[in-house]
Amino acid sequence: MNSINNPESVTDGSVAGLLAWSDLAEQFDRLRHATLRELFAGDPSRVESMTYDVAGIHADLSKHRIDGQALAALIELAEQRDLRARIEEMFTGARINTTEDRAVLHTALRIPRGESLIVDGVDVAAQVHGVLDQMATFADRVRSDEWRGSTGKPIRAVVNIGIGGSDLGPVMAYRALRHLSKRELQFRFVSNIDGTDIVEATRDLDPAETLFIVSSKTFTTQETMTNAQSARSWLLSGLGSQADVAKHFVAVSTNADAVRAFGIDPSNMFGFWDWVGGRYSMDSAIGLSLMLAVGPDAFEDMLAGFHAVDEHFRYADLDGNLPVLMGLLGVWYRDFFNYQTQVVLPYEQYLDRFPAYLQQLTMESNGKSVTHDGTAVGVDTGAIWWGEPGTNGQHSFYQLLHQGTTVSPADFIMFVQPVNDIGDHHDKLIANVLAQANVLAFGRDADEVRSAGTREQLVAHKVMPGNRPSATLMLDRLTPYALGSLIALYEHVVFTQGVIWGVDSFDQWGVELGKTMAGQLLPALVADDVPDLSGFDASTARLAMRYRQLRGR
Ligand code: F6P
Repeated sequence: MNSINNPESVTDGSVAGLLAWSDLAEQFDRLRHATLRELFAGDPSRVESMTYDVAGIHADLSKHRIDGQALAALIELAEQRDLRARIEEMFTGARINTTEDRAVLHTALRIPRGESLIVDGVDVAAQVHGVLDQMATFADRVRSDEWRGSTGKPIRAVVNIGIGGSDLGPVMAYRALRHLSKRELQFRFVSNIDGTDIVEATRDLDPAETLFIVSSKTFTTQETMTNAQSARSWLLSGLGSQADVAKHFVAVSTNADAVRAFGIDPSNMFGFWDWVGGRYSMDSAIGLSLMLAVGPDAFEDMLAGFHAVDEHFRYADLDGNLPVLMGLLGVWYRDFFNYQTQVVLPYEQYLDRFPAYLQQLTMESNGKSVTHDGTAVGVDTGAIWWGEPGTNGQHSFYQLLHQGTTVSPADFIMFVQPVNDIGDHHDKLIANVLAQANVLAFGRDADEVRSAGTREQLVAHKVMPGNRPSATLMLDRLTPYALGSLIALYEHVVFTQGVIWGVDSFDQWGVELGKTMAGQLLPALVADDVPDLSGFDASTARLAMRYRQLRGR
């Protein structure tokens, strides 16, 4: 038995001990000096054979530093890690989050209406649709002005208070689909415990027209509860009575007792379940702000996009399975090429928060050092994910991508149809994304630079090394469906990598100690008497004392 709670659901030990891992090392030795120019020249059908169409995502993986033989070795690794069985366990509700002894069922959030999924005797699909219906009723009431504030005014501003998965998903998706949003409603998102966040979000709002959504899976998170208290004070100072809170506060949580204790009517609570991880929750009730913005029908379209990729991930053969292939390529780069980061470059302004969303999804999931059984993982795990929308990045960090000593595989995301078709902006945007992927892959060697008339002293500076890998994901248009499909794609990339590395992609113990420490320091910072800081290191104690002194304490 090797797992904490579910012996069936975990693969033994470090992946480095597998035969497939040694085979991959040999493949890497064979390919480490091969250039993309050579790989393209050697295989005329390369682009065709490395392009995949899944749920409206046209994915060209041909600019990756791999060939068919090495790709087959990666698939063999997935087989030896029993990926197919692991996927099935997730979809059917096995407790694969072993350290928290929980099922991982975000895929149940998008099961189509009418289907069922029985887990521990409960039809979770029916539960999901019950909450979706509750959300839709509420969203329709707010959007039609039937739901009014305590003074009778309609709601004109919605403020989501949450952090981590209770913020990044909602804000990313709202920004992605705001072209479809009801523009009479403003949407704001407050996450940081820094008071500036709530102050700036509310300073020009009318409390009588403002609805707060307090989003927190646990309803105990310090940042969210502090911001929610401040929001309530702001509301009461504007409106006056405790009774007003009911019309201006709703909650999204799994913790009904805490919601009640905060003073929010449980009938204004939208629930979800412990089998939805925070960073996998934006399509649960945590997406209520998005549904208020775009309406229930668009939300349903988004769920359909998620579900289409879920079906592909669950049933497609591993060698044609896009999330599996992208996940395996991430392992290939992280562990064999030793590339430490993965950059995501959406050439779509509406996706400006997509990289930030992916940071939590990927790094909180796979930033781990031990396997399920607590032994050292033995290989490198989660890359650092980052990115910015194109073309802004081109004028800031692309210099390093092209000529720096650090290589970062890139995912380019582009859409054929512009949301805002103005002048020739979109054609120029697309010319840029195609150009960047081309230059990263194929570069310019010294002879080519010379033949362009460059004087000799500048040749070395102008050489573009190329051979820098990327994927290009081309979709038709940024619709709710397309957004859902993209998010599900990356969720399953993360899952695939977690299975290969043998880590629990659904816990996040690494964030706990800092929270505990802050809880211990807070009383010392505000105490009237000189605090006893002997339990802290000298640096922390001195900084805390200096802070107290400069705050006049
Ligand atoms: O501290 C990390 C974390 O637990 C995330 O995993 C989660 O998304 C976030 O905090 C917010 O948690 P909650 O929704 O319970 O407030």
